[in-house]
Amino acid sequence: MSEEIIVMNPATGEEVDRVKKESREDIERKIDKAHEMFKQYRKKNAHDRSALLVRWAELIRENKDEIAELITKENGKPLKEAAGEVEYACSYIDYYAEEGKRVYGRTIPQHEDDVRLVVTRQPIGVVAAITPWNFPVAMMARKAAPAVAAGCTFIVKPASETPLSAIRFLDLALEAGFEEGVIQYVTASGKDVGEVFSHSEKIMKLTFTGSTAVGKTLMEGAASTVKNITMELGGHAPLVVNKDADLDMAVEHAVATKFRNSGQTCVCANRFYVHEDVAEAFSQKFADRVKTLKVGNGLDEGVEVGPMINEDGYDKVMRHISDAKDKGGQVTAGGEGSKDAGYFIEPTVITGATDDMLIMNEETFGPVAPIQTFATLDEAIEKANDTEYGLAAYFFTESYRDGIRLQEGLDFGVLGWNNGKPSAAHIPFGGLKESGIGREGGPEGIEPYLETKITSMKI
Ligand code: SIN
Repeated sequence: MSEEIIVMNPATGEEVDRVKKESREDIERKIDKAHEMFKQYRKKNAHDRSALLVRWAELIRENKDEIAELITKENGKPLKEAAGEVEYACSYIDYYAEEGKRVYGRTIPQHEDDVRLVVTRQPIGVVAAITPWNFPVAMMARKAAPAVAAGCTFIVKPASETPLSAIRFLDLALEAGFEEGVIQYVTASGKDVGEVFSHSEKIMKLTFTGSTAVGKTLMEGAASTVKNITMELGGHAPLVVNKDADLDMAVEHAVATKFRNSGQTCVCANRFYVHEDVAEAFSQKFADRVKTLKVGNGLDEGVEVGPMINEDGYDKVMRHISDAKDKGGQVTAGGEGSKDAGYFIEPTVITGATDDMLIMNEETFGPVAPIQTFATLDEAIEKANDTEYGLAAYFFTESYRDGIRLQEGLDFGVLGWNNGKPSAAHIPFGGLKESGIGREGGPEGIEPYLETKITSMKI
C-alpha cells in the first residue's frame, strides 16, 4: 500500500483528508515529463500563454469560496483572510499574464561596420518550486505565473501541511487549458523533493519559500548543477514607532502586520522599537486594540486570529513568551495558550523587552509583540539592523527627514513607511542578508525565469 500524507485541521486537531505520498521515482517521472513538455511549450507565443493565465485566474475566482475554505481547514487562517489570499494569488496571475508580453530583447550599436548585435531572452527551462504552508496558494502563484508566462514548465511541491488547496488551485490550470506537463505538483516528503529537485540536471531553476535553514541546504544541493535559484527565506522584522508618529495609524498597521495569519508570515513585525516619549501611549493603545481581536476556528464568523499551524509552531511561540517573562517582560495583553483542541495562542503584547530575549533574536512566527523603547533614531536603526535577517521592516513617522533616514538606514528588502501591508503583485518582494536571494513580484519577478543570449553577427 502506498504511503499517505495526513492533512490535519490545526483548529480542531482533526483529520481533513489524505493525499498520496509520492516516491522519488514518481518525482523523477514528473521531472522527465516537465522536461519533455518544455521542448513544446517554449514555442507557444507569449500572447497564447497569457490567454491561458487569464483563463486560469478566471477559474480560480469562480472557485474562490471552495479554495478559501480548504485553506482555512488546513492552514487555520480566518475565512476572510483565506479569500483575500486567493485574490492575492490571482493578482500575480493577472500581473504576469501581462508582464509575459513585455519580455523584450534589444539591439546594441555595433563596434565594427559589418557586425550586428542582438540580445534575446528565452525561458530558462524546467522550474522546480517548493512552497510554504502559510500562504498555500499565493506563494505558489507568484512562482508559477511568471514561470509559465516566460515559457518555462513548472513543477511544485506544496507544503505537506496544506496540499489540498494547492492541488485544487493547480488542477484548475489544467482545466484552463495548460497542457499536461506544463504545470505539475508532487506530494512527497520534503527531504526527498529537496534532494531530487536540487540535484536534478533537468531542472534549471529552483525557487523556494521557507526557512533559512532549509534554504541553505537547498542552495548546497543546487550548487552541484550550478542551478539558478530564488530563495525567499526567514525574517525578523523590526517595527519602529518614532516620537512624531500618528499613534492611531501606527496601532492599526501594527495590528495588521503582526497578526496577519496569526503572526505566521515571514514579513510579520517580530520586534517593536518605540520612542520613549510615546512608548506608554502607544503600548496602551496597542494592547487595548489587541485585546479586541477574536481568536478561534477560522471558519467561525468574526474570527480574526486562527491557530498555530502545528504543535512545533505552538511550542516555539510559547517558549518565546515564557523566556520573555523570565527575563522581566510584562505581559499587557494575552499571554496564554492552549493545545487541548487545536493550537491557539492569545494575541500577546509584552513590554519591557530586552535584547537578550529569544523573541528579539529569533523568528517567532506567532501572535506576540515585544516592545522595547529607544531614545535616538540612530539607536533604533542600529538595533533594527542587528540581525542576520533582512526581509521586511516597518516604521511610523510623520517627519520626512526621519522617514528618509529610516528608509536609507534600514537594511531590509521590503519597507513599510506608515504602512503595515506593503505586499502587492506589482512590487519586487525579497530579502537582504540571510533572508534570501532574488525578488518575486513586479518586473523583477519574471527575470529569474529568463536567460539572456547575445548574438554577434558578421554580415
Ligand atoms: C511571506 O510570508 O513570505 C509572504 C508574505 C507576503 O507576500 O506578504
